[in-house]
Amino acid sequence: MTEISVTKADKVGTLPIDGKLGFGKIYTDHMFVMDYVSGKGWYSPRIVPYGEFGTVPATIVFHYGQAIFEGMKAFRNTDNQVAVFRANNYLNRLNRSAGFLCIPSVDVEQVREGLFKLLELDQDWVPGELGTALYIRPFVIATDKYIGLKSSNTYRLFIIMSPVGAYYETGFNPVSIKVEEKYVRATKGGLGQAKTPANYAMSLAAQEEAHAEGFTQVLWLDAVHRKYVEEVGTMNIFFKINGEIVTPELNGSILGGITRQTVLELARDWGLKVAERQISIEEVYEAQAKGQLEEIFGTGTAAVISPVGELSWKGERILINNNRTGKFAQKLFDYLTGVQYGNVPDKYDWMDKVKRK
Ligand code: COI
Repeated sequence: MTEISVTKADKVGTLPIDGKLGFGKIYTDHMFVMDYVSGKGWYSPRIVPYGEFGTVPATIVFHYGQAIFEGMKAFRNTDNQVAVFRANNYLNRLNRSAGFLCIPSVDVEQVREGLFKLLELDQDWVPGELGTALYIRPFVIATDKYIGLKSSNTYRLFIIMSPVGAYYETGFNPVSIKVEEKYVRATKGGLGQAKTPANYAMSLAAQEEAHAEGFTQVLWLDAVHRKYVEEVGTMNIFFKINGEIVTPELNGSILGGITRQTVLELARDWGLKVAERQISIEEVYEAQAKGQLEEIFGTGTAAVISPVGELSWKGERILINNNRTGKFAQKLFDYLTGVQYGNVPDKYDWMDKVKRK
């Protein structure tokens, strides 16, 4: 594998105190970068100071959105050991997204090596308080300097990193969610299962309208029937109905979340009844009317496990579990964060350790 070159930053920053982190506001001293040109492949893997990079206005990604990204996390445990949660799962998903956008796949081993070298260098930026993490954002952009519509011949991959606190201002407290009726996120045959900026750009108008009405996020319904639950703006969604854990199946328009996969694995291992299937919004409201809707929560890398306290559909608001965090969501949160912060044994081998400095 090509040697990764390292150019160190002249000035290094410092990690702000944990309570002031917010989400995605500050970045570590360095980033990993690698380039691609057709015929040659990925080349010049390097770690350089985080900062501006030069390009021209005609760079194709600005015009047609040929780009993909990931969101992963590294944690500092109580022994001061830094470790990444399920690194290979995320990097493999980057390659799956690449396929949908005609972006060349990466060598997962090479990107992983770059990531862990970057983490080794910038590990002082990993916060340690419960609820904080180092958010890792790998992304690939098309870089041809050309504004005709085609897939690019050149690409650049970056990995940047940001110490973060809770994604939602409400922290781990229940969020209120509006069931979206006007807009749709994705349709089968489209880009819904890829982690690509278009899906997030698509969500902005709906999210702004929902915010203005006092909701934290929107719950997307399927684009054809406007009936089946898909996912929430930044998370997958789970229901606990009459003891059963239900989440929409990966039907081609939903993002296959790594936290979603983790929750399914845990629930099955804990002996719960689990179903990945179509679930209509009527079914959710009916379950509530029958007193069978026990919990709703979202799962995501940034959002972790996020209880849903209120749902609003066609103006009808329902309170889930009296707007309190449910027992199952709490158990998942405690287990997952327990493994991530090193307080619960990592029996599934989810945490990959970073070499100490
Ligand atoms: C993540 O959860 O990692 C995401 O990419 C969602 C993003 C809106 C922060």
